[in-house]
Amino acid sequence: MNWLNDNVNLLTLIGAAVIIILTIGIVGKYIKQIKNDKATGELTGDTWDGVGEFSNPLPTGWALAFLGTIAWALWYALMGYPVGTFSQIGQYNQEVSDYTKRFESKWANPDHETLMGMGEGVFLVQCAPCHGVTGEGMNGKAADLTKRGTEALIVKTVLKGSKGQGYPLGEMPAGLLDKDGATAVAAYIVQGLAKDGKSKHPELVEKGKTLFATCAACHGADGKGMGGSAPSLANYGKENFIAAVLEHGKKGSIGIMPAFNDGRLTKVQKDAVGTYVESLSE
Ligand code: HEC
Ligand code: HEC
Repeated sequence: MNWLNDNVNLLTLIGAAVIIILTIGIVGKYIKQIKNDKATGELTGDTWDGVGEFSNPLPTGWALAFLGTIAWALWYALMGYPVGTFSQIGQYNQEVSDYTKRFESKWANPDHETLMGMGEGVFLVQCAPCHGVTGEGMNGKAADLTKRGTEALIVKTVLKGSKGQGYPLGEMPAGLLDKDGATAVAAYIVQGLAKDGKSKHPELVEKGKTLFATCAACHGADGKGMGGSAPSLANYGKENFIAAVLEHGKKGSIGIMPAFNDGRLTKVQKDAVGTYVESLSE
């Protein structure tokens, strides 16, 4: 019989047999005792419907079994099954963290080609549902990632404001400048702050530089966001801008871009999708 080879089954079977034998023996003993009981001794004095009670001390065996049961219950609760046990959730978490470590060490120093390949994979799974497989935003349902960081977007942000990314300075109010002013500031951000940018309105860069004083209050004179108090404009649209969007999410005039900061993507996967998204607008 196969199941008898299992120690637990065997122990259980032996335990069950012992319990049955003990029960039969003890019950037999008491039946006999009831039949010819000639009990004598001191009564407590109380009677219940004529039945008296001997004032005998607690049987030692019973007391020991009672204490033993308490000790066993404590052992069982603390060291036995409920606390110190195998848990599927624990095993799952352990396996995920082992896997993540293996994954990160395997891709510790990815080259550009590796990042692009991995980034495309991540993009198609995580981002394409909203931004579309081409990244164009499915007719305005999400941001058009092929036109990130354009001057037009900066103008739109200045006119409409920006909120929801969780920066310490909170919301950026709408309408800080009118359309002409915003266009000039955008030209300065693209061609003055960003090192290699080329504005469509080079003649407005100087005017934009003056107007940037309005923005410098929060974004800093160098546009770098004053140590994380507001987003950096010096790299608007670039890779670390994408990293910030993934970290904070983005709530704007189009809708809500969810944050990806819950461990769904590892660091190298974020770098990869950033590299890939940046390539979309090159
Ligand atoms: C009162 C402080 C404040 C002022 C003044 C301000 N901003 Fe902002 N700006 C912010 C904050 C805070 C955010 C991020 C808000 C969010 O989306 O959660 C932001 C976001 C932006 C963004 C979007 C960046 C991104 O990563 O999405 C752009 C572009 C921008 N600001 C440009 C400007 C320009 C240009 C000016 C000057 C006309 C300006 N800001 C003035 C506080 C300010
Ligand atoms: C649930 C839909 C959704 C998913 C999934 C999503 N996005 Fe977005 N994303 C949006 C929306 C909507 C916006 C526009 C927010 C706004 O109104 O400014 C946006 C904006 C962005 C922006 C800012 C563009 C700009 O110039 O302001 C970037 C970058 C971005 N997403 C990258 C990604 C990446 C990378 C992924 C995948 C890891 C992703 N998104 C997944 C909906 C989504």
